[in-house]
This record gives sequence, structure tokens and C-alpha cells, in this order.
Amino acid sequence: MKKIQISPSILSADFSQLGNEIKRLEEGGADLIHVDVMDGHFVPNLTIGPPVIKALKKNCSIKFDVHLMISPVHKYIDAYADAGADIITFHPEATDDLSASIKKIKDLGKKVGVSLNPETKVSVIKDYLDQIDLILVMSVNPGFGGQKFMPEVLEKIKELRNIQKEKNVDFDIEIDGGINFENSKIAIEAGANILVSGTTIFKSNNGDIKKNIDLLKSK
Ligand code: DX5
Ligand code: ZN
Repeated sequence: MKKIQISPSILSADFSQLGNEIKRLEEGGADLIHVDVMDGHFVPNLTIGPPVIKALKKNCSIKFDVHLMISPVHKYIDAYADAGADIITFHPEATDDLSASIKKIKDLGKKVGVSLNPETKVSVIKDYLDQIDLILVMSVNPGFGGQKFMPEVLEKIKELRNIQKEKNVDFDIEIDGGINFENSKIAIEAGANILVSGTTIFKSNNGDIKKNIDLLKSK
């Protein structure tokens, strides 16, 4: 059984205090920092890019789990690798050549993730599972924090874990969107081993980050 990791999404952080918020996550026991990059084109929201990531990474020892909700994505991969992303996750709909984008991230020495929107089928990436380090299963439609969890995507996680056994390949499954204290357990039971959470970690229990991370981790 893989160790359960928590990757807090800074989309729900106080953007006027991002450096301090990252420090609070580090002190609160975050395993990864989930950075939601949005371009206002692939999703109807615009957040941060390479310069901000570079600045934040300077003062943080935790790995940056960068979720690229941008299209086209291929030509920007170098910039996010240079900025300090440790895991670079993109959406298959955002590249003309899935294999080439996967290879580019790996050639840069980064872990590669591919993200499946709620309506995107596992079949889209089935032939690449031996090249991918992480599959990011969206449990909301991408673009905003604070949305309602979509339990139907749990079937996708179970399907991925079955394929993993059949093909004897190894990858992390990260679930992202609407994760809270009620549904974190069913997400883990379905087979997710990395939980992304923004609203629950930053807003619950008066923003007690350590308590919220511990609660999400406990099965
Ligand atoms: C949505 C992002 C998610 C989101 C998670 O497009 O990819 O990472 O910020 O935030 P919550 O946990 O509030 O749903
Ligand atoms: Zn995300």
C-alpha cells in the first residue's frame, strides 16, 4: 500500500502572502505543494506562472507538484522545469503529441503527470501508463477551488488500479477537487495515494493547516 501524501493546493491560499503560506504548509506537514497554473484559455481562470513559481521555490524544501491547466502546453514545459517544478502534470487535450510531451518532461529530469478531467476516459492514456509517474484524476471540472466533489470519478481510480495490476506498472494516483474530511477516505479506498486539497486545508478548523493535513491523512 503506497504512503498517503497530501498536496495542498495554493489556489486557496492568501495570494498576498504566498511566501508565508508556503512556509505554513511546510511547517504543517505537507508532502507536496500543488501549484495550479491556469491560462484563461484551457480553463476560464488565470493564476500564476514561472516567475512566481521560481520565487516561491527558492524558500521551500518541499517538492512542487505543478498542475498545468494551459493549452498549448508543449512549448511551455521548459519554462516550468526551469522555474523549479518537480512534478509537471498536463492535460492530454492540451498537446498535439502526448508521447512527445511526456518524453520532454522526462528528458528534463522531472516526474511526469497526466491529468484526466471528469469526462476524459482512461483509454486516452492507457498506452502510456508505463511512461507516466502520476495520474491526476480530477474530481471537479478544472478552473476553480471550492467546487463540489464528483464521486463518479472514483470508478476511474479503481479502473487505473486494476490496469496497474494487469500491466505490472507503477504510478501514483492523485485526486484533485473538492476533497474534504468526508470523502478523503473513500478516495483512498478507491486507490488514490495523493490527495490534493485547497479549501479544506486552508479554510477548515480556523485554518489550522497541520490539523487539517493530519485529518485528511488519517483513514
Ligand atoms: C482546480 C484545481 C484544484 C483545486 C482544488 O482546477 O486543479 O487543484 O484548486 O481546490 P479545492 O480543494 O478547494 O477543490
Ligand atoms: Zn489542481
